[in-house]
Amino acid sequence: MDPTRQFTLPRGLGGTLVGALMAPMNATQIRTCVADLAPEPGEHILEIGFGPGIGLTALAETHPDLRIAGADPSEAMAAAARRRVRRHRDRIELRQATAGELPWPDGTFDAVCATNSAQLWQPLDESLLPALNKAGFADVRADWRPSKGARALYVRAVNPPV
Ligand SMILES: C[S@@+](CC[C@H](N)C(=O)[O-])C[C@H]1O[C@@H](n2cnc3c(N)ncnc32)[C@H](O)[C@@H]1O
Repeated sequence: MDPTRQFTLPRGLGGTLVGALMAPMNATQIRTCVADLAPEPGEHILEIGFGPGIGLTALAETHPDLRIAGADPSEAMAAAARRRVRRHRDRIELRQATAGELPWPDGTFDAVCATNSAQLWQPLDESLLPALNKAGFADVRADWRPSKGARALYVRAVNPPV
């Protein structure tokens, strides 16, 4: 199997090893994303493509009063994340699901975050910003920031109050 596919959809033992590599590699970027999200007490937050669970852990540890959910189609990542967040399991709900078929009704979440995974979603790849605008999000902003010797695209969008 092409090893880069393990970053796209980690599977089996290889996927578990890739998850263990990803965790320290992406931790700073993920914590920046959680800090930028700045959730309010009591909010219900979804992380899509949670991988080995660094973002879920950062959300739970920095905000003890959040309800948190995660969606990721990889069984290997669900197992790794479940182990990592076991101390917070009473307020974290993990589901094996893709961004395209989220198993929650519209309007369930106050905010959604994702790192290093939006490029893998279908049909949003290469059209994330137009799709966010079309879906009614406001204040859609994107900027490239230096990250790990390269650049990462930071995207922020606000679901306006009805
Ligand atoms: C490169 S990893 C990033 C993991 C973590 N967010 C990070 O920054 O380290 C990509 C993750 O996206 C998940 N993924 C792949 N396709 C997806 C989809 N269609 N919807 C949601 N997540 C997906 C993979 O299973 C994997 O856990």
